[in-house]
Amino acid sequence: KYRGIIFDLDGVICHTDKYHYQAWKQVADQLGIYFDETINNRLRGVSRMESFEIILERYDGAMSEEEKERYTAEKNEIYKELLKNMSPADLAPEVKATMDELRERGLKLAIGSSSRNACFILGQLGLDGYFDAVSDGNQITHSKPDPEVFLLAAKLIHEKQEDCLVVEDARAGLMAAKAGGMDGAGIGDASDCELAAYHLKSFEELLEACNS
Ligand code: G6P
Ligand code: MG
Repeated sequence: KYRGIIFDLDGVICHTDKYHYQAWKQVADQLGIYFDETINNRLRGVSRMESFEIILERYDGAMSEEEKERYTAEKNEIYKELLKNMSPADLAPEVKATMDELRERGLKLAIGSSSRNACFILGQLGLDGYFDAVSDGNQITHSKPDPEVFLLAAKLIHEKQEDCLVVEDARAGLMAAKAGGMDGAGIGDASDCELAAYHLKSFEELLEACNS
């Protein structure tokens, strides 16, 4: 049925939430802004600057664009330091085995991530060069829920968008898939989302979704 699978990275292939949380928490603390894990969950799939804007909802006062750039750059420095803790051991065997099986079936595999650190994370996980294409936050102007990142991924693997399945842990990502004319499979936080064509309880269930 599908010819290509486009995977979101953070929350699907690996779990970077805790690092995003720790890095944003340091910035929020400096500014005296209340920030917790529930707010952190709203940052899933959202670009770095849009994430900061969500955090700033609880900030009284104005902040110039320059200051925003400075704080988001600082967050990224902290985040990248934390990402150095990641290793191939952070790639679940189930995830790797499932992707290998999909590839054996002849499907093309791509990454469609809002992150500008996608290639660095893939390197940490030992997945350098594993995907047929990587479409990420460095190559797009509109973040999810805009479909740009997924449409680019489909283009890079030379498949029509309707022949691709998107795997996502964020509602914004499933909205992007839909807007791009692609089916979505929701996993983790988004497994119950009504926008998903498949509600995955585990990564392996992707094998059945691709059979149906
Ligand atoms: C992913 C994460 C978001 C993050 C975004 C940008 O979509 O789910 O939480 O804000 O990437 O990440 P970056 O690594 O570019 O700051
Ligand atoms: Mg995600």
